[in-house]
Amino acid sequence: MTGLDPTSVSSFQKHLAQSNRIVAILGAGLSASSGLPTFRGADGMWCNHDVQMIATPAGWRRDPGLVWQFYSDRRRMALRAQPNPAHFALAELAKRKSGFVALSQNVDGLLERAGMGKGDPNGQLRLLHGNLFDLRCAGGCGYEERGNFEDPLCPALSEEREKGRENVLGAQVEEGAKASKVSALLFEGIAAKNKKILGDKFADEKPTASDAAPLRGLGEDAPKLPDLVPVLRSGIGTNDLPQCPKCKSNILRPGVVWFGEGLPKDVVEGVDTLFEEQQIDLCLVIGTSSLVWPAAGYAEQARKRGARIAVVNMNPDDARNLRDGDWLFVGDAAVVVPQILGTSMGQDAGEAGNTADDQ
Ligand code: OAD
Ligand code: ZN
Repeated sequence: MTGLDPTSVSSFQKHLAQSNRIVAILGAGLSASSGLPTFRGADGMWCNHDVQMIATPAGWRRDPGLVWQFYSDRRRMALRAQPNPAHFALAELAKRKSGFVALSQNVDGLLERAGMGKGDPNGQLRLLHGNLFDLRCAGGCGYEERGNFEDPLCPALSEEREKGRENVLGAQVEEGAKASKVSALLFEGIAAKNKKILGDKFADEKPTASDAAPLRGLGEDAPKLPDLVPVLRSGIGTNDLPQCPKCKSNILRPGVVWFGEGLPKDVVEGVDTLFEEQQIDLCLVIGTSSLVWPAAGYAEQARKRGARIAVVNMNPDDARNLRDGDWLFVGDAAVVVPQILGTSMGQDAGEAGNTADDQ
């Protein structure tokens, strides 16, 4: 077993053998070896995309087609990806230990495909940020769909259409908007002004007729109202997006949590109960930057319930608040996790591993 410190691995495994109440806090690094990008870091999704436009309620109101393009692309990538040995090792651990619970920030469905849980809010797999393959009515009629793996969800979101669109998710403005008499810049100016006046009440939505008021002084050259409706960057109208089959008057949205939204209530309550009622033996923190709450706080809550903490991460700087008696295993989760859980068949860990005791 090269790479990982054998003494640390055996001390971890000794503790693992005596543990039943195990909480695993999981992040995007778990699926990195399956070819799915993480969020932060040089190639992270949030570095290459405008978060406000694609992962917030305001972005959704402004251009749901753009939001759908982002999530449709992620659905496609996740469908083509395969669970890696870390997903399988965790699924196996869940079978071995009845008290195992995974709190996953991942929405890619790979743990489920490796055989763990079914996303039941009180089961062994708790999905903190939802799932790419769940859909629900954006109008709030209550319609929900679980495990919809169709691709594309509608013709407007097909891969062929996506390919024809250059950098649609980037910051560029659609050709149509450039051609319009009203420049995108002007709209941004109007939005900035409204934001200043309205403060917190400002919702970044499509400009309306009243937004055109500042243009009236332009006389003949003033654009007519239809010109004022900006071409959606996505070019996809709501009629072309997945429709709610129940109320038939709204579109469906991805069943994921966006910035500015609460986590699923039943899941959060279930996790709170877990931390209130139970003694916890071991907390695994795998492939997460531990920056996003509440997941970022769960390791400390587990510690308060008696848990020792084991971190698996490519980047040792992302192991936060380690104490004596904890473990840090540095390396690719797909290699390290099966090794430390004792489910790998002699694989090598590529990077060095240490325990906090060594530091
Ligand atoms: P991040 O992108 O913030 O962090 C990924 C972590 O995985 C980093 O600490 C990397 O060092 C580590 N990592 C990368 N490759 C790895 C590998 N092969 N093996 C082990 N570790 C590796 O992703 P999360 O922590 O999951 O939320 O981000 C949390 C939440 O922030 C996401 O769920 C998402 C995002 O905004 C929402 O979309 C609501
Ligand atoms: Zn509906």
